[in-house]
Amino acid sequence: MTPMRTERLILRNWEERDRALFHRINSDELVMEFFPFRRTRAESDAFMDRLAGRIAEVGYGFAAAEIVETGETIGFIGVLDNTPVPGAAKADLEIGWRLAPEYWGMGYVTEVAGKWLEFAFNDLDRSHVWSFAVAVNRRSTAVMDRLGMERVPERDFDHPKVPDTHPHLQHHVVYRLMRENWRGPNASKSRT
Ligand SMILES: CC(C)(COP(=O)(O)OP(=O)(O)OC[C@H]1O[C@@H](n2cnc3c(N)ncnc32)[C@H](O)[C@@H]1OP(=O)(O)O)[C@@H](O)C(=O)NCCC(=O)NCCS
Repeated sequence: MTPMRTERLILRNWEERDRALFHRINSDELVMEFFPFRRTRAESDAFMDRLAGRIAEVGYGFAAAEIVETGETIGFIGVLDNTPVPGAAKADLEIGWRLAPEYWGMGYVTEVAGKWLEFAFNDLDRSHVWSFAVAVNRRSTAVMDRLGMERVPERDFDHPKVPDTHPHLQHHVVYRLMRENWRGPNASKSRT
């Protein structure tokens, strides 16, 4: 992918130096509170390789976000196809995020997600982008709200990859942003 810039961050494909951080955000109890699994280092490395390969192939995906000023990698934010949202087309995009906790509460996700929406609507010419989260994952649904996404309750679903051992993590709420409701590339700058 061609790296992208926002005011404070760079979006780029994964690099070898990201592996420790990537493992942390896939195994940390707080970060993974709404996921039924924690990845070992080997599983995390394999997941990073899959993401990186796909990003190299199609030019987008769950990409690394790096702070311009410090060079620190903080986690991933990106768009992916093949979303599990019921009734979505195979090519439909979902937008998703996962940061190490010390970078929460700084507006980084909303800032970078705004860039990805610009990419989806302007570069990829998409009509809409999906997002979803466990209903009680308010930090995540708050990002969707900040981005101006709308709830689409009729698409809410039980995630097929969440086992019956974790019933409280099965039900997901769905959000969507239609291009005509997108506030534009500078939307994330107005804090709400
Ligand atoms: C979900 C997650 C990505 C949200 O991160 P976040 O940092 O809260 O999101 P944002 O970047 O939008 O930051 C917004 C917060 O930064 C604050 N902020 C500080 N400086 C800001 C700035 N310059 N601009 C905008 N917001 C700013 C906002 O007030 C808001 O704080 P609040 O939550 O106290 O109201 C993060 O909690 C996470 O990684 N969770 C674990 C993984 C996960 O659950 N992923 C989603 C699965 S569906």
